[in-house]
Amino acid sequence: MDKKAVGISDTFKGNTAPKRFTKNPIKGTKFTIAISSAKGGVGKSTFAMNFALALKSIGSKVGILDADIYGPSLPKMMSINEKPKSEDGKSMVPINQYGVQCMSIGFLVDKDTPMIWRGPMVTSAIKTFTQKVLWNDLDFIVVDMPPGTGDTQLTFAQEIKVDGAIIVSTPQEIALADVTRGINMFDKLKVPILGLVDNMSFFETDEGKKYNIFGEGGVEKLSKNYNKKFLGKIPIDIDLRIAADNGKPLVEENPDHKISKIFKEMATKIKVSFP
Ligand SMILES: Nc1ncnc2c1ncn2[C@@H]1O[C@H](COP(=O)(O)OP(=O)(O)OP(=O)(O)O)[C@@H](O)[C@H]1O
Ligand SMILES: [Mg+2]
Repeated sequence: MDKKAVGISDTFKGNTAPKRFTKNPIKGTKFTIAISSAKGGVGKSTFAMNFALALKSIGSKVGILDADIYGPSLPKMMSINEKPKSEDGKSMVPINQYGVQCMSIGFLVDKDTPMIWRGPMVTSAIKTFTQKVLWNDLDFIVVDMPPGTGDTQLTFAQEIKVDGAIIVSTPQEIALADVTRGINMFDKLKVPILGLVDNMSFFETDEGKKYNIFGEGGVEKLSKNYNKKFLGKIPIDIDLRIAADNGKPLVEENPDHKISKIFKEMATKIKVSFP
């Protein structure tokens, strides 16, 4: 008897094939760089603001998009209390602060209002920020991502053209485990990883004694293991924290500070990798 091979019909295959997404570039910018880490509280937002201002200081035209819908940091870290203007009721003009174009969900809601949103609403907010904001003639948009590997990351990776991601971590083992997940996510979604940053790397006293509060060398080792670039170390620094809390990132507040110089070196390293 002729046995027919059992298989999945073409119709079924068609129905279950993974959805194909088109990756739309953000209009008004040449390149989009996501600042990410799977773990919360490792310094992504602090890095994003200072890195963006460092790119500006070396001659680039820069925007910052705060993609942390549930916990936006940009309004506080960049001292912005106004709402973006709209001429046609559909698109929004980003707010200019310290020579950088800024957009955040925090501009649109009261700062004490929690964003109790489900995934599809987050996706739609991200699309609004990338398609309906009138970013003007930028070289780079720096995207401050929320922690984790959730809806925001997926929307960016699948539907928006992201030219590269920078992964920020502390050297602590518990953070590194999450970073590994972050690396795997970007690799899987084919977003190039521009490099890894070791934040809160160590603390140095005025006498020059170093304390490796969160461990040592973990991020650099991970970069090697995964064949990614290591962009450098940012120590724990009180001036960096105070400047962030005061709403004027250290790179802008004190461009000659040793930490500001680290940010500028990193910005230069990244800038040269873009044509
Ligand atoms: N190198 C550093 N030295 C001192 N303080 C730092 C440093 N990096 C970040 N901080 C401080 O650590 C706290 C967390 O930083 P930040 O908000 O940038 O982290 P995050 O990863 O964006 O957090 P979240 O996951 O909640 O978005 C802030 O108070 C910030 O000022
Ligand atoms: Mg943040």
